[in-house]
Amino acid sequence: MMLVEAHQLSKSFGGLRAVDRVDFSVASGSITGIIGPNGAGKTTFFNLISRALPASSGRILFDGRDVTALAAHQVARLGVARTFQATTLFADATAVDNVLVGYRQRTKSGVLDALLRTGRLTREEGEARAASRDALAFVGLDAFAGRRAQDLTQEQQKRLAIALALVAKPRLLLLDEPSAGINAEQTRGLISLIEEIAAAGVTVLLIEHQMQVVMQLCQRIMVLDYGRKIAQGTPDEIRTDPAVLDAYLGRH
Ligand SMILES: Nc1ncnc2c1ncn2[C@@H]1O[C@H](COP(=O)(O)OP(=O)(O)OP(=O)(O)O)[C@@H](O)[C@H]1O
Ligand SMILES: [Mg+2]
Repeated sequence: MMLVEAHQLSKSFGGLRAVDRVDFSVASGSITGIIGPNGAGKTTFFNLISRALPASSGRILFDGRDVTALAAHQVARLGVARTFQATTLFADATAVDNVLVGYRQRTKSGVLDALLRTGRLTREEGEARAASRDALAFVGLDAFAGRRAQDLTQEQQKRLAIALALVAKPRLLLLDEPSAGINAEQTRGLISLIEEIAAAGVTVLLIEHQMQVVMQLCQRIMVLDYGRKIAQGTPDEIRTDPAVLDAYLGRH
């Protein structure tokens, strides 16, 4: 059962084909990796899946449903959540308030509710606080709920960004280079967290530069180079694929 399917998915920026006719699917419940040299189109591929950017051509299916024409917030509501390559937190706000923002982006109370302070809003406020606490606990930050984001360590900020994505209970979590900027020991902790997320039933698709992280975590890997899919397979298949070795080593 495939949760995500990309069919001939493409994105051009002017004359540049950042994602070039990519066919790829992500199995439900799996941890799947995307690797490739800088500028290969990995983040753009995420932007297409999450509908942050419109595709130039091709189709995207989520849980069998064509989402190619949906808006980003509609895709989010269907259960797609993501983190960003550069962590985007509200530096001055506490950890729990950051997570609350993630929650509110996906609930239905509008401006009118906020003005009228309806019963629904008050009830949702309680639910939002509880969900945010749960998400913080899941990523191991329950003791830091009241700390400002800017006062957290780099690793804690990474975990917080994941909590923000998890709070809406997504079915698919997109992680853009989760281990960037943290040390080896912190990376081991992050690997465990990603395994726990998958064990909780969330399908994970991650972009990752550190080869050992991808090889350890992922059941399947797609390799992009100049926007094209040059390989896909298990870690063992990818490790020995001549096209992959060439993309990574052949140019140096
Ligand atoms: N909004 C944009 N406008 C114009 N060009 C863009 C835009 N976003 C990405 N690109 C270009 O598309 C190509 C793919 O970029 P992308 O960020 O997807 O690569 P990446 O594989 O994520 O790279 P990295 O490993 O450095 O994060 C690059 O050449 C980039 O400069
Ligand atoms: Mg990128």
